[in-house]
Amino acid sequence: MTSTLSIQDLRVNVQDKPILKGVNLTINQGEVHALMGPNGTGKSTLAYALMGHPGYTVTGGKITFDGQDILGWTPEERARRGMFLAFQYPIAIPGVSVANFLRTAINSRRRALDPQDKGIPIPEFRKLLKSKMEALQIPVEFGGRYLNDGFSGGEKKRVEVLQLSVLLPKIAIMDETDSGLDIDALRIVAGSVETLSGPDLGILVITHYQRILNYIKPQFVHVMYDGRIVEDGGADLAVKLEETGYEWVKEKYNGMEKS
Ligand SMILES: Nc1ncnc2c1ncn2[C@@H]1O[C@H](COP(=O)(O)OP(=O)(O)OP(=O)(O)O)[C@@H](O)[C@H]1O
Ligand SMILES: [Mg+2]
Repeated sequence: MTSTLSIQDLRVNVQDKPILKGVNLTINQGEVHALMGPNGTGKSTLAYALMGHPGYTVTGGKITFDGQDILGWTPEERARRGMFLAFQYPIAIPGVSVANFLRTAINSRRRALDPQDKGIPIPEFRKLLKSKMEALQIPVEFGGRYLNDGFSGGEKKRVEVLQLSVLLPKIAIMDETDSGLDIDALRIVAGSVETLSGPDLGILVITHYQRILNYIKPQFVHVMYDGRIVEDGGADLAVKLEETGYEWVKEKYNGMEKS
């Protein structure tokens, strides 16, 4: 069965201020969507709300995953069921090594699929981790380091994609995975996401630049402005935005009915 994440007329407040003002978006497993838009228009807010961050209050609308209302699910439950969020600003988790974090996360996903699951055998996990780390050119010692603790910006992004590649979620939301990556790292990181994309993975890539979309090719491009998705198109829309910027979007949608 193809999984579907459906967002209907979603309204979200941050500290009592309305930020999302009616977002509609449907992402099916196997589809690649890009979300673009000027700074401060609500893209990260959407990502956090999707993952159930407690600071983002849903005041209206619906989010469903395979038809089930997810608003009552904790962030852990959402992850167990196959949703994945790569943060724009990843947090450090001192005391938890990358390898332990990943093994716990894998086992949690496995148990969601089969409550009797005994967990991934350690040798199998080591082999999996080694091959995925090699593909992302992450040095072996990173497995033993505390998650994101003292990682450089680019190292954090690589480790996020490592998480994605071992967890194999159904829907992944990637908030500015391309920011802070050097040219080679962008190629490696975006190239690995590209190899993961396929019928089993739905991706929402939040980005400011068309360049990552040369690797992770979107079928759908959406533009967010003032808390709503105001334009939808194909890959050509991202190319157009790169050339024209957002002035025309601002002019067209400025003074939209406030609600
Ligand atoms: N914790 C917070 N407290 C107050 N305002 C917030 C908070 N989080 C977000 N906002 C506000 O919500 C608006 C949307 O922010 P958001 O981070 O979603 O934008 P964005 O589209 O991701 O921007 P960028 O392209 O710069 O990443 C901004 O005006 C921001 O200041
Ligand atoms: Mg953002």
